[in-house]
Amino acid sequence: MTKKILLSGIQSTGTLHIGNYFGAIKQFVELQDNYDTRIFVANFHSVTTIQDKEKLEKLTREIVIDYLACGLDPEKVTLFLQSSIPEVTELAWYFNCLITVPYLMRAHSYKDKVANGKEPSAGLFTYPMLMAADILIQDSEIVPVGQDQKQHIEFTRDVATKFNHTYGETFKLPEAYILDDVSIVPGLDGQKMSKSYGNTIPLFAEDKDIEKLCMQVVTDSLSPADPKDPETSNIFQIHKLFLNNVEKEELAEKYRAGGLGYKEAKEMLAESVKKFIGPIREKRKEIENNPDFVDQVLKQGGQKAQAIASKKLLEIRSKVGIL
Ligand code: ADP
Ligand code: TRP
Repeated sequence: MTKKILLSGIQSTGTLHIGNYFGAIKQFVELQDNYDTRIFVANFHSVTTIQDKEKLEKLTREIVIDYLACGLDPEKVTLFLQSSIPEVTELAWYFNCLITVPYLMRAHSYKDKVANGKEPSAGLFTYPMLMAADILIQDSEIVPVGQDQKQHIEFTRDVATKFNHTYGETFKLPEAYILDDVSIVPGLDGQKMSKSYGNTIPLFAEDKDIEKLCMQVVTDSLSPADPKDPETSNIFQIHKLFLNNVEKEELAEKYRAGGLGYKEAKEMLAESVKKFIGPIREKRKEIENNPDFVDQVLKQGGQKAQAIASKKLLEIRSKVGIL
C-alpha cells in the first residue's frame, strides 16, 4: 500500500526550543515510519523576519542539524530546504491572485504582529499563501504542527478549494495533525513558548543554562507546605512533557499533597530536562562536525522534492493558462 504524504516545516528564525520539539518535531520523528514524510526548513518564510545574510544562512543550516539530531532519518525522510523548490513562490502567486485582502486580514499570525506594533511587510501579509503552496505543491495529506498553525492549514484548505472550483480538480485537501496535550507548550513566563518571546528552553541547551532557565519559571506565591494544582502550575505543565504517564501521575500527586516547594519542583524539572537533552545534544555535536553528510542529505532531499514540485507546477500552469 502506498503511504500517505506527510509534510511539515519550521522557519529558520531562531534557535529551536522544547515547544518546537514537543509541538512538532517529535511527531515528525514518530510518524516517519508510517508516512511518506517530507520535512523542510522554511527559509523563504524566514525572510519576513531575518534580513541578514550570515544569520539566515547559519540559522537555516542549524535547523537541518537539529532535525537530524532529533532523530529524523534521511533514509526514510525527504529532508530539504524550501529554497530548493523555488516553484512554491510561483504557486503562491496564483493563490495570491485568488484570495482576497479581507480574507488574509483574518490571519492570527498577521494580526498578532500588527498588534505588537510591527509594520507588516507585504511578504508577512501573504505568508499563509506561501505556506499553502508548500503543502499543496506536494499533494500533502497530513501536516503535523502546533496549535498556532491550525488556521494556516484552514487557509490552505480554503485556497485549494477555491483553486479547484476555478480551474478544475487539482489539489487534495490536507488535514492538520495536532496533538491536544502538547498543542501549546508554555514558556518560562507562562505565555506560549516562542522564539519571538524570549521565554524558551532551547532544545540543545547546555546543562548549566538549563538549570538557570528552570529556576526562572514563573510561579504564584504559595509556600512549600501548600497543596498545589498541577494543572495551573507552569512548572508542572513543562515538566510533564518529559514524563511517562505513571511518572506524570506520581508527580501530580506530590504537587497536590503539599510539601513540595517551588524551588525543589524547579530542580526536579531541571533534572528531567537535562536527562532528555544530554544525549541529543551530543548527537547534534557529531552531526555538526560532519558537514559533508549534511550537504549530502540536503542535496538528495532537495532534488527529490523539487522533481515532485516541478511536475505538479506544469499541471498547474496548464490549468491557469500560463504558456
Ligand atoms: P516560534 O513560535 O517559536 O517562532 P515556529 O512558529 O517556528 O515557532 O513553530 C515551528 C513549529 O513548532 C510549528 O509547528 C509550531 O506550531 C510549533 N510550536 C512552536 N511553539 C510551540 C509551542 N509553544 N507549543 C507547541 N508547539 C509549538
Ligand atoms: N508557518 C510555519 C511555522 O511558522 C512554517 C511552515 C511554512 C510550514 N510552510 C509550512 C509548516 C508548511 C507546515 C507546512 O512554523
